[in-house]
Amino acid sequence: MPLIKEVKSKEHIGLEVELKGWVYRKMTVGGKIFIVLRDSSDIIQCVIDESKVDHDTWSKAKKVTRESSCIIRGIIKADLRAPGGYELQVTQLNIVGLSDWFPIRGNEGVDFLLDHRHLWIRSRKLQAIMKIKHTILEAGREYFNKNGWWEVTPPILTGSACESGATQFEVNYFGQKAYLSQSAQLYLEALIFTLDKVWSLTPSFRAEKSRTRRHLAEYWHLEAEAAWYSMEDMMRVVEELVYYMVDKVLCNRMDELRFLKRDTRILENAKPPYPRITYDEAIEILQNKGVNIKWGDDLGADEERVLTEEFESPFFITHFPKEIKAFYMKLDPNNPRVVLGFDLLAPEGYGEIVGGSVREDSYDILLKRILEVGLNPKEYKWYLDLRKYGTVPHSGFGLGIERTVMWIAGLDHIRDAIPFPRFRERLYP
Ligand code: 4AD
Ligand code: MG
Repeated sequence: MPLIKEVKSKEHIGLEVELKGWVYRKMTVGGKIFIVLRDSSDIIQCVIDESKVDHDTWSKAKKVTRESSCIIRGIIKADLRAPGGYELQVTQLNIVGLSDWFPIRGNEGVDFLLDHRHLWIRSRKLQAIMKIKHTILEAGREYFNKNGWWEVTPPILTGSACESGATQFEVNYFGQKAYLSQSAQLYLEALIFTLDKVWSLTPSFRAEKSRTRRHLAEYWHLEAEAAWYSMEDMMRVVEELVYYMVDKVLCNRMDELRFLKRDTRILENAKPPYPRITYDEAIEILQNKGVNIKWGDDLGADEERVLTEEFESPFFITHFPKEIKAFYMKLDPNNPRVVLGFDLLAPEGYGEIVGGSVREDSYDILLKRILEVGLNPKEYKWYLDLRKYGTVPHSGFGLGIERTVMWIAGLDHIRDAIPFPRFRERLYP
C-alpha cells in the first residue's frame, strides 16, 4: 500500500492506486465532492465526480465526515490547481471508521487544544514537529555511534537527587521514598569506569513549579559522560553533536521546516566552533546593556535572551560561580570561586539547551561540597566510592531534546516539542 507522498509523482500519473488515510478536509461544489486525504507522509486532494462514480461511492462520499478513516481508490492526475500539483480522480471510496463531529476546527485556544491533545497531535503542525524530533534523535544516536560511544540504560527510579532536591518527584517505592530521575549523570559517571565513553537517552523529571515557555515536568534528556575528557574536549563534543543534529534536519526535514515557516539562515550558519564567553563576561555584557544583575546571580530566561542577541550561532557560557551550580562540578583550580562548568545557549532568544561540566574527582573535595550544600553523604556513598576506586578526571553534559527541537523548529513554546506535554496542572490526556 503506497503512502500519499509516493504516489504524488510523474511516474504515477494515469495509474490507479489505493490510498489509506483520514479525511483532512471536505468540500462540496456542484456535482463534485473534494476530499483532502492525509496520512503520515502528505495530503492529497481526491475528487469524487457524481457522474463518474457508482451510487454507493457517491453516497459514502456525501456521508463521510472530517477525520473519518477511509480507503480510497482512484487514478492519479497532474493538476496544477490541486495542492501539491497532483490529485486523485476517485473510482471507489470505503469508509472504515466514520468520525463523529471533530471538535477541533482550527481557531481554538491553547487550553482547549491541550485538553484535546490526543486529537490535536493529528495536526500538520505537530506532525511536522514530531518528524523533526525524530531526525534530531536519529542524529544524536548516529553521532555517538560514529564516534565510539557506548549507549547505556541508567535507572529512572532513584534514591537521591542529581540536580536540586526542590524539583524532585517523589514516588512510593515499596514503602520507601524514591524519586524519578532528574538526570542520569551520576549513573553515567559510574559507567565510564567500565566503558570509558557512555551516553543515554532517558526521560528526566523536574517538578518545576513555575509555568514557563521552556520547562516541562517530563522531558527527554540526552546525556554523555567520558573518562579523561577535559572541559574543552567535552565542549567540542557538544558543538559537534548539536551541529550534527542541525545539519541532519536541514538535509532531511526541509519540507517540515518550510511548513513551520522556519527561517533557516541561522541554522545554516550554525557551524562550530561556537563562541565561548565566561560567566564574568556575560555579566559584563548584561550590565552594559542595562540589565540589573550582579556577580553571583543566576542567569534566568530573560538574561539569557538578552545575551543571545549578541550571537548569530549557539554559544557557550563557562566558569559559573559555584553557588549557582550543582555540587558535583569541579572547582576551577585557578579560581575556586567558579566551577569548570558550561552551558550552551541557542541563539534567537532560545537560551540554554545543554548543561555540562568537569566533575569533581577528588574524594575529599566532593565530600566537602556535598556537606556544604546540605546533602546527606550517606545517600551519596556509592557516588563517593567512585572517587575511591581508581578515580579519573572526567566530564559530561546533558542536552534537553525538547529545548533543542524548540530552537531548530523555531517554536515559541516547549509544549509543542512533545506530543503529550507534562507540566504543573497538566496530566490529561
Ligand atoms: O542543566 P541541567 O539541569 O543539567 C543536568 O541535569 C546535568 N546533570 C546534565 C549532565 O551533565 N549529564 O539539565 C540539562 C539540560 C538543560 O540544559 C535543558 O536543555 C534541559 O536539560 N532541561 C529541561 N528541559 C525541559 N524542561 C525542563 N524542566 C528542563 N530542565 C532541564
Ligand atoms: Mg542547566
